This record gives sequence, structure tokens and C-alpha cells, in this order.
Amino acid sequence: MRYFFQSGSFQELSQAELICVLDSYGIQKDSLKNVGGGIFVLDTKDVTDEIVKKIFNRLGGYIRYGHVVEDLDSFLPSFEDMKKVTFGVSYISNIGGERKSIVKLSNDIKRYFKSVGISSRFLIPKSTQLNEAQIRNNNLLQEGFEFCIFDTNEIQMYGRTLGVQDVESFVHRDLDKPESDYQMGVLPQKLARIMCNLTSLKQGILWDPFCGSGTILMEASMLGFDVLGSDIDIKAIENSDKNIQWLKDENLITGIKYNLFQLDIRNVEKRIVKDLKRTNISAVVCEPFMGPPQRKEVTESKADILLKDVEDLYISLFKILNEIAHSGFKLVLVIPSYKTIKGEKTINISQFAQKKWEVLNKKYTKGDLKWKRNNSIITRNIFVLSKR
Ligand SMILES: C[S@@+](CC[C@H](N)C(=O)[O-])C[C@H]1O[C@@H](n2cnc3c(N)ncnc32)[C@H](O)[C@@H]1O
Repeated sequence: MRYFFQSGSFQELSQAELICVLDSYGIQKDSLKNVGGGIFVLDTKDVTDEIVKKIFNRLGGYIRYGHVVEDLDSFLPSFEDMKKVTFGVSYISNIGGERKSIVKLSNDIKRYFKSVGISSRFLIPKSTQLNEAQIRNNNLLQEGFEFCIFDTNEIQMYGRTLGVQDVESFVHRDLDKPESDYQMGVLPQKLARIMCNLTSLKQGILWDPFCGSGTILMEASMLGFDVLGSDIDIKAIENSDKNIQWLKDENLITGIKYNLFQLDIRNVEKRIVKDLKRTNISAVVCEPFMGPPQRKEVTESKADILLKDVEDLYISLFKILNEIAHSGFKLVLVIPSYKTIKGEKTINISQFAQKKWEVLNKKYTKGDLKWKRNNSIITRNIFVLSKR
């Protein structure tokens, strides 16, 4: 059985995320093929539907997944034991597509069901793809199916959706959590999820040394990690505490251990380094200072000032990590770049990593791992490192 995964907007990042989650399940990255248009096909004997569901439910960067339909002739007959079928057709393409042909195909399918005595109803996508709300609200995957037509530069194939991203739960955590510090900049919930997954781990202890209001800690605990959060600002610690407690109150996490403490990363006592070493941290996932939100291009000197702040924090972080990290220890971090009149400005990761850390990005995808909204001045560049 082959499976498809459809990524969200940031395809390079999603590709890296899926490779890392597969890795945490012992699945080789050669089993995954990028077939263009944000579609990935997983082809391996090592998985079951149950495992693929677990994998999909961990992901932050994917919209839908399902079976590749290999035998089109037996697809509709496979629903003949149902009395009533609700279905929809989505056309997933990076080379255009027409809503008209979706309506025609849906009518043809309805006619087929009528000919075999099954009553059916179909949903029409608002554009060319059904959205998550249409699929969930109509219970489409339980009471029928979504049939996907994939048409990219590289492939033409069909699929039956098995699951769609639980967008509502990401939005709920994002908007309804009790504390958000918008002044400091809050990491998007989905990016926090992706970053936790880039550790290639399923369990263990994740540390965010710049935890702010705890977005990374929240997503890590949703994934089942125990978490450690620290920040220079005591208010940030209180906010993270309230947010994690809220996840517990909402019954979104159970059995997670967490510990929060105030720490200036530039000034860590030997005693604390010792404690951290003893804690057996599995990985660090973090985003330090991004600077205040910017509406227009910054001057080069402003970018230099903002980047110097980030650089100082990372120099301090690497100093500690070089003492506590074992070989293979994963570090996932964000380095901002700023749009200036003269182009993008950022910092070179290798100055921190030196020879002690390997940057893994190119193992996952040729492109850069970026999270950037259209026309935004600040880009988040994501790096995955492993201690040699
Ligand atoms: C961009 S925020 C992190 C946001 C967080 N990822 C979230 O989504 O809530 C950066 C955090 O780094 C903290 N910070 C700044 N300087 C620090 C230092 N020297 N040591 C530790 N934390 C520091 C700030 O207090 C702030 O909470």
C-alpha cells in the first residue's frame, strides 16, 4: 500500500519534518518520494494504516494524507455495501484545475451509485479542494470518501483521504491559550510543532532555553515529550506555566513532566550546568529574540543590531551545550533574517556550530528551511544540528 501526504505552505520544511518523523519510527527516508506540488508518496512495507495515522497526527506541516488508489476500477464498487454515501472530489495540482470538471465527475459518481441502488450526496469544493472544515463537519471520511486527483508536473495519480489536519485544535491552542506575549513575538503553533518533530525523536526531554510564553513547550508536551523551559524573564516562566497548566485543564495532555525556571543564558552558574547535564536532556528546540515586528524594510545598521542580540544569545547557548550535549544530541533553532534595502541580512550558523556540530538541513532537502509569510520583513530560518 502506498500513502500520500499533502504538505501545507512551507514544502521544504514539511519535507524535512516528515523525513524526521519517519526516522523516529525507524523508516528510511528513501521510502519517501517528493512528486511535486507539495505531494509526497510513502512506499514501504514497514508500515500499517495505524502507524501512518500516528505519524500523520504528529505532523504540523501537512493538510491531508491517505491511500494512493492503485486500482481505479474497484474503487467505487468498494462502497457498494453502504446504504448511503457522502463523497467529494478534490483536484490537487500545481498546474491549475477546473471546478467545472469536479462537478461533472461528482455527478458521474452519483449516477454510478444510483445505478447500483445507493443513494448519495456530494460536496463541492469552494475552490478545487475540499477544506478541512467541509470534510470534518460532514463526517465525510466516515460516511463516504474524499477522492483526490493528483496532477503535478511529475505525477498523475488518485488517492482516498484517510485524515485531514486538525486545524481547529492548532487554532484553539494558538488563540485560546491564556497567555501570549505578542511584544516578544510568538512562534506560530504549527511551526513549534514542526520544530519539535525535526529532532527525529518521539519521546524524551526537550529544553527550550528561551521559552517565552511556552509555545514550543506546549507542542512538545502535546507530542508526549517531558519539557524543560527557561527564560531570563520571570513573567515568561509564569506565562509558560499557565499555558501548560491550561493544556492539562483542557485534557489535551496527561502524564507529562515539566519544569520551568528562570535563567539568563549568558550567565549560567557551574551548579546549573551540572544539573542540566544530569537531567539527560534529549534535545534543545528554541527561538531566541526576533526583534519587534517590522512593517517595512529595516536599515542595514538596524538589522546588524538585531542580529547581534541573537548572536550573543547563541554564543552563550552553544557554550553550555558544548558542555552538556552528548554525541548525537539534536538542536533545532531559528535564526532570523531581515529584509533590508540592500537585500537579506542574517548570521552564518557555522560560526556557532564550528566543527563540533553538524548541520543536517541538506540531508532532508536541497532547499532552505524557511518559515516566511508573503512580504514579511523577518524570515525565520530553521536549522537542525547534531552534536558530533
Ligand atoms: C521570541 S521569544 C520566544 C518566544 C517563544 N518561542 C514563544 O513562542 O512563546 C524570546 C525569549 O527569549 C528570552 N530571552 C532574551 N534574552 C534572554 C537571555 N539572555 N536568557 C534567556 N532568555 C532570554 C526573552 O525573555 C523571550 O521570552
